[in-house]
Amino acid sequence: MDSKKSLLLIVSGGIAAYKIPELIRLLTKQGISVTCIITKAARQFVTPLTLASLSGNQVYTELFDLKDESEIGHIQLSRQANLVLVAPATASIIAKMAHGIADDLATTCLLATDKPVLVAPAMNVKMWEHPATQRNINQLIQDGVTFYGPEDGAMACGETGTGRMAEIETLTNAIRQQLEQATPPALPLAGKHVLVTAGPTHEKIDPVRYIANRSSGKQGYALAQQAASMGATVTLVSGPVNLAAPYGVQTVRVTSASQMLEAVKAALPAEIAICAAAVADWRVAAPSAEKMKKTGKQDVPTLVLTQNPDILHTLSNLEQERPELVIGFAAETQDIIANAKAKLARKGCDIMIANDVSEQSGTFGGNDNAVHFITKDRISSWDRMSKQEVSNKILQEIRSKK
Ligand code: C5P
Repeated sequence: MDSKKSLLLIVSGGIAAYKIPELIRLLTKQGISVTCIITKAARQFVTPLTLASLSGNQVYTELFDLKDESEIGHIQLSRQANLVLVAPATASIIAKMAHGIADDLATTCLLATDKPVLVAPAMNVKMWEHPATQRNINQLIQDGVTFYGPEDGAMACGETGTGRMAEIETLTNAIRQQLEQATPPALPLAGKHVLVTAGPTHEKIDPVRYIANRSSGKQGYALAQQAASMGATVTLVSGPVNLAAPYGVQTVRVTSASQMLEAVKAALPAEIAICAAAVADWRVAAPSAEKMKKTGKQDVPTLVLTQNPDILHTLSNLEQERPELVIGFAAETQDIIANAKAKLARKGCDIMIANDVSEQSGTFGGNDNAVHFITKDRISSWDRMSKQEVSNKILQEIRSKK
């Protein structure tokens, strides 16, 4: 299916429903993918089988259909198309739309959709002219719904006046035009896999104690969220933090640096890797299997530490599957830029984001960050801003490099 040109067509129960198979035929001929929802009343006029045969797509009928809900779900159904058309739209479905009533699959999708909605009314002239219908139409126009028709002429009920569904050609042209406008511009990181590490790591001393640091994970989570909203497929490998998984991001939760490295390797390949985690440099060489006990007043245990794997260094120096762009964070308390430049060279990454994490900076755990964007050839120092804004700016820079 061409996701750039897809229509959710809601067919409600008017005699004009007999024209819908022809509409579907014309739209599919133009490369527009049509998915239909047909109300109970509309099934008196046209069958789901006809619509399915002509559209080549499954036709949805019931809100609580176990199979449909488990496979697609009404929310997804209401969102996956670029445009929604209700044709023919009866006075009843228009009234429900105007009042936000969601009592079947069609009206629930109309309430849940975040896409433009077009309506092609078709009804008896008196029903159309009724103040209730006109009130509902006005309300829907204010809500941003676009109406096509109804047109004047003879109607199936034998009366003449305004109430005929707009001509199929009119609707086809309107849909084509609207789809062109509704097609969102390609997102800047669409098709890219972005891997982000975030948060601290906890290194076990014994079953109840660990070595940790003050990282909140906020900067890494903001980066993951921002990358996802720019269209990337995002894997977030997170140490223990108090943050909810960002929406639309594959979040893998780990505890220690070793686990973080394993999760990062498992997530490859990725075009972009951003190591925002504050990974512990050392772990206890032989953590105690049992809780360590105080045995006497003078008795102080000695912790023998060993070095943790350096994830950023590992990723930057992979022979196979090295991401095209590897970005590190240099959390410094002094000589920030000099230390970060040295780190950029030592780790072998492409960009270093340097920030001050001294206690007075409030960076660890805070909502703001002031960073320097450092590459081999340039240093840009940005004003203090929210971690979301920092994420946006970093990803905009990356995007211009790609
Ligand atoms: O060497 P330092 O810890 O200051 O470097 C910070 C950068 O290196 C951060 O991007 C951090 O995520 C990454 N790092 C890592 N694995 C480590 C230590 C740091 O990926 N073991």
